[in-house]
Amino acid sequence: MTTVAARVDEKRLWTRHVDMAKIGATPAGGVNRFAFTPEDTEARKLLLTWAEKRDFKSEIDDLGNIFIRRAGTDKNAPPVVSGSHSDTQPKGGRFDGIYGVLAAFEVLEALEDGGIKTKRPLEAVIWSAEEGGSRFPMGCLGSQAYADPKKAVTLLDGKDNAGMTVKAAIAEMMKGLPKLGHRPLNTPLAYCIEAHIEQGPILEETKNTIGVVTAIHGQRWFKVEVIGEAGHAGNTPERLRKDAVTDAIPVMAALRKLFHDPDDVVRFTMGRVDVEPNATAVIPAKVTFTIDFRHPDEATITRLGDQVEAVAKGAASKCEVKVTQLRRAKTTPFTGAVPETILAVTKKLGYPHMHIPSGAGHDARYIADICPTGMIFIPCWKGISHNETEDATAGDLAAGTRVLAETMVELANR
Ligand code: HGY
Ligand code: MN
Ligand code: MN
Repeated sequence: MTTVAARVDEKRLWTRHVDMAKIGATPAGGVNRFAFTPEDTEARKLLLTWAEKRDFKSEIDDLGNIFIRRAGTDKNAPPVVSGSHSDTQPKGGRFDGIYGVLAAFEVLEALEDGGIKTKRPLEAVIWSAEEGGSRFPMGCLGSQAYADPKKAVTLLDGKDNAGMTVKAAIAEMMKGLPKLGHRPLNTPLAYCIEAHIEQGPILEETKNTIGVVTAIHGQRWFKVEVIGEAGHAGNTPERLRKDAVTDAIPVMAALRKLFHDPDDVVRFTMGRVDVEPNATAVIPAKVTFTIDFRHPDEATITRLGDQVEAVAKGAASKCEVKVTQLRRAKTTPFTGAVPETILAVTKKLGYPHMHIPSGAGHDARYIADICPTGMIFIPCWKGISHNETEDATAGDLAAGTRVLAETMVELANR
């Protein structure tokens, strides 16, 4: 009797990545597929076309999360789900997110090819807008709302820079998708597994093929506004200026100092800086920049994050400073049946492996609040991600998928 791992088709999986990477492809070999844009819609449509060919049933919920189902023998049993995101960062990579979607879909196809039955249904999932923070106020919109429908209204009201709400963007996307059954948010799930590239260098450096993920680190996002006054660059004397850039420089330097960590555990990033009106001959009226701060220890996240406002305000001299916390996500541990099964399967398949935490955020963080959840990492080239040169090997993609497949089948028959 064949095993599902033996039916995982490395070539088919690689080809699907090549096909997906064409959607939103950038000249430098990356991918631009912002949440709910025509490119994201096209990627979803492509996957649904493949699902249609297999006669898998697909549903969609109010946040645009898509569930592609392979029936089980017990149609009332909550499903084992696996998936990730189809959207990307600006100039993102060809594997971040989409690997988890395609690995999950490959599991469904491998089961079909092997004629293997499972008690529970299995579902491949696209969680909406995991990278949503690159267009809207925050990310993981789909998985957050699925896990906690009370958040849906606020998340749907989030606006992008053009003033379009998440709700309107989803409605636009729906016009480009085939008619799908409706899935209520928070419909019960039995287990959830997310396969993802590591987006760090550890697995490659230690020559491990599989990472059994132990936790996702906590994080806080802030928006810092340094508010000055526009003026003529040529005629306004220094003594009368309220130059937002001149003040933003010491503010950013003071925050960089606050988050300096000799042990290199703190992850502190000021990734986005907007200057208004952003004109050569105009004294900057306003600088808005973001802080992305992550750490495994909640007390440290509280201690350092709570100092942001005072340090930022203390470093400015002429401008007003406003600090807004945009999000806070707690450290999420992965324990119990899912990581234990991932480990047991990995050992059975004989892949070199290790336990590894994730500094990167993932949808699994939120789904872990509603069902036993775990993650499988595979190596990516030099650990590079959120970068057009992001790369992974067909062999590693398939290895992670084999572990995912055997894990899903094991849990589906419990
Ligand atoms: O920010 C993150 O960790 C994820 O890649 N969106
Ligand atoms: Mn990402
Ligand atoms: Mn991702």
